[in-house]
Amino acid sequence: MIDYSKIETTKAEPEASSMIETFRAVGYNLETAIADIIDNSISAHANNIWVDYKWNGPETIIFITDDGHGMSNEEIIQAMRPGCRNPLEQRTLYDLGRFGLGLKTASFSQCRKFCLISKISGGESAYWTWDLDYVNQSKAWDILKYKPDYEIYYEKLKKLNSGTVVVWWDIDRLTKESGKSDERAKAKFFEVMESSKNHIGMVFHRFIQNGLNIYFRDRKIIPWDPFMIGTDGIQTRPETKIADGQIIVQGFILPHRSKLTPEDYDYGKGPKDSWTHHQGFYIYRNNRLLVAGDWLGMFKKETHYDLCRIKLDITNKFDIDWNIDIKKSQAIPPPQYREQISALAKEARALAVEVYRHRGKIIKRTFTKNDYFPIWEEYVRHGKLFFKLNRRHPIIRDLLDAENSSRNNIKNAFKFIEETIPVPLIMIRENEGEITHGIPFEGISHDPILHNMQEMYRQMINNGYSSEDAKARIANIEPFDSYLEYLDHLEDAVEQRGN
Ligand SMILES: Nc1ncnc2c1ncn2[C@@H]1O[C@H](COP(=O)(O)OP(=O)(O)O)[C@@H](O)[C@H]1O
Ligand SMILES: [Mg+2]
Repeated sequence: MIDYSKIETTKAEPEASSMIETFRAVGYNLETAIADIIDNSISAHANNIWVDYKWNGPETIIFITDDGHGMSNEEIIQAMRPGCRNPLEQRTLYDLGRFGLGLKTASFSQCRKFCLISKISGGESAYWTWDLDYVNQSKAWDILKYKPDYEIYYEKLKKLNSGTVVVWWDIDRLTKESGKSDERAKAKFFEVMESSKNHIGMVFHRFIQNGLNIYFRDRKIIPWDPFMIGTDGIQTRPETKIADGQIIVQGFILPHRSKLTPEDYDYGKGPKDSWTHHQGFYIYRNNRLLVAGDWLGMFKKETHYDLCRIKLDITNKFDIDWNIDIKKSQAIPPPQYREQISALAKEARALAVEVYRHRGKIIKRTFTKNDYFPIWEEYVRHGKLFFKLNRRHPIIRDLLDAENSSRNNIKNAFKFIEETIPVPLIMIRENEGEITHGIPFEGISHDPILHNMQEMYRQMINNGYSSEDAKARIANIEPFDSYLEYLDHLEDAVEQRGN
């Protein structure tokens, strides 16, 4: 044990302005910053939350009001302190906070000045302001007894019994160097506000569905439910409880596009405007969405898993195990549960691919009169078994048709390939039964498969085949017949090239 009483000490306090600059670099964007402010309103048991803003070039303001329990003067001062609560402290289940930092880091990430105005039931309203310019000047962790004097901020609070307003101004990150009449900056600002609205509708969808009202410029935000509960044709996997029920996992396989109305299909694209981006895990901490569509490093996002979304519910008891970050947009499964979570995901993913594969099989059946094209053809020579490359196979045929000076070389190479197939070895291995044969392209990137299918499809369409015909033909070509799940993604390539 060190005897501290015998040792000289000196202060090594954080330098206020550089520390605040560090807060600014946490990596929030407008969406995650507003969500963090709303977290506090929900923790304060608000029933209504209003997100308002007024574009005015460099004097633009954003203010967020709630009708939660509010804060007394002393509580506001405490709330303004960075790190006002210990991250190790156990919080109630309703509390969405964590580090005692969110209000400050989220606000400073967007603006240089923010004011907290609040009142508790039966009390007078009180206010305090953090001003980065003043901190730079005073070099001290001092807040100001100041509030911006525009009446519109307080209109809602005045009518409430209790509640809080957070006002952001000098929003330099978003409105820097834009004039009041700068139409492009204005359009950009409205665009990010719009995407923030969608983000909020997603992150807090469970709260909104349970009766919380979040208004965006006085219009109610519509919740976005990733699992589209209530839509016909959803396959719901049973819930699995892990870690004594502290983690609940449930897979959803959403319906194929052909089973959805165009409106529902668009709805499914979600705030990221893409089915592919929205596949993966959805991690909820106390019903608040932290991660929206991510495979957590377990798998890659691929189009044929588009229909797979997995719900993962956790509580705030295990924040440290889950590595929840300050801006609450990250959560990493604890290593001891990773395997189990991954196994459940694999199950759901397999079912999701099956939706596409099943449709592929139907297409293949509708065109059985087509020849089947294997790459290798079997034949017997002098009583011995040989294989040769099928010259009618489209890839090989194209290669041979090409006006190409090295054609003889290619033929020659083929000959060598054919003559050197290790048939005896294949058979010995087969009989030993030690190694089972993989399917083509198993375990390596499937990109060449998809690209070749798309290219072939594009050529067939250009040559006047109907989409159905082209797909049926492709479904009868080896090894594409093992990848029927891609048949549904052939049009995308043609559309993208067309644009
Ligand atoms: N809208 C609000 N209503 C009531 N109390 C609030 C509000 N916003 C912040 N607070 C108080 O300020 C504290 C600090 O908030 P914050 O910096 O976001 O950290 P955390 O949410 O992790 O506690 C909260 O714990 C809460 O006590
Ligand atoms: Mg908070």
